This record gives sequence, C-alpha cells and structure tokens, in this order.
Amino acid sequence: MQGVARNFFTLAIMFAILGMMLGLQMAMSQDHSQLPTHAHIMVLGWVMSAVFAFFYPLVPAAGHSRLAPVHFWLSAVSSVGLVIGLFMIYGGNLSADPIAAVCSMGFFVATLLFAYIALSALWGGQTSAARAGAH
Ligand code: HEM
Ligand code: HEM
Repeated sequence: MQGVARNFFTLAIMFAILGMMLGLQMAMSQDHSQLPTHAHIMVLGWVMSAVFAFFYPLVPAAGHSRLAPVHFWLSAVSSVGLVIGLFMIYGGNLSADPIAAVCSMGFFVATLLFAYIALSALWGGQTSAARAGAH
C-alpha cells in the first residue's frame, strides 16, 4: 500500500486511536455529551478513510487518477476540521459552528469528487475493456 492509499490508511489509524480515546473518556466519565464527535471520528474518520485506503489499490485506474491526491487532501483537511468543530460545539463553544459548517461542505465536495473518480474508473474501464472485445 502506497501513495494515496497509504495516506488514507494513516489518517484512518489516527482517527481510530483518537476516537477510541474519546469513547473511553466518555465511558469513564459517564459524560456522553461528545457522542456526535466520537461517532463521526469513528465512522466518518476511521471507517470511511479505511474504505478509501482499500478502494484505491483495488481499482488501479482510480489510484492513478490525478484527482486522487486532491480527494485525499480535501477529505483530510475537512474531516479534521469537522471533528475539531464538533468537539468545540459539543463542548459548549457554539462559535465553532461555522468551522463545522464549512468543513462539512468540504467533506461533501470531497465525497462528490470520490464518486466521480470511483465511478469513472469503474465504468470507464469497463467501457474500454468492452471496446477491446473483452467480456
Ligand atoms: C475503545 C472503544 C470504544 C469506546 C470506549 C466507545 C464508547 C462509546 C460511548 C460511551 C458511546 C456513547 C453511547 C451512548 O451514549 O449511547 C459511543 C457511541 C458510539 N460509538 Fe463508540 N466506543 C468505542 C469504539 C467505537 C468504534 C470502533 C466505533 C465504530 C467504528 C464506534 C462508533 C460509535 C457510534 C456510531 C456511536 C453513536 C451511537 C448512537 O448514535 O447512538 N465506537 N461509543
Ligand atoms: C459531512 C457531512 C455530515 C454532516 C453535516 C453530518 C451531520 C450530522 C448531524 C447533524 C447528526 C445528528 C447529531 C445529533 O445527534 O445531534 C449526525 C449524526 C450521525 N452521523 Fe453525521 N454528518 C455528516 C456525515 C456523516 C458521515 C459521512 C457519516 C458516516 C460515515 C456520519 C455518521 C453519523 C452517525 C453514525 C450519526 C449518529 C450519531 C450521532 O447522533 O451523532 N455522518 N450527523
């Protein structure tokens, strides 16, 4: 695993450790007010980044796309910003709302970009294979 895939997996591991530390802190303190932050770190951070990390090597046409590093950096910056925004909001600092809002939209745009990279690699590859006479 290298390049964008390795970057995504490194990000995923960092989210997993951070999210579990927050989950443990919530469980031990019996204060679950950071539940949405923990949930997004674990699922948006750990699970989604890990899915991306496995997708790119599995579909080399997507891994070789020049847009793949853009997808990584937009996802990384927006997901880290979103998690910081959520942590502040659920810690009572509502002034962080614009950070969470901008980062949410950034993550959404990153997901649209991934949809384009992934679907054009999957279906584009199949079309050229079909053109070459493969089935
Ligand atoms: C060290 C391991 C973990 C600890 C101590 C932990 C702890 C917690 C706690 C205390 C809550 C709040 C429960 C509530 O108030 O209803 C919670 C919720 C949640 N956790 Fe974890 N967690 C851990 C690992 C994970 C992992 C690995 C995932 C996913 C990959 C995950 C996903 C979630 C989600 C999605 C919620 C929100 C559930 C809901 O909406 O009701 N957690 N966790
Ligand atoms: C980036 C755009 C996203 C926005 C703006 C967003 C927003 C929200 C909001 C407002 C809630 C309700 C929080 C509450 O309980 O008060 C929520 C819950 C949740 N979201 Fe997201 N979400 C986003 C992306 C995602 C993604 C990509 C995942 C999973 C891969 C996810 C997983 C969850 C889960 C598991 C919950 C339930 C736990 C909770 O109550 O916090 N979200 N989200």
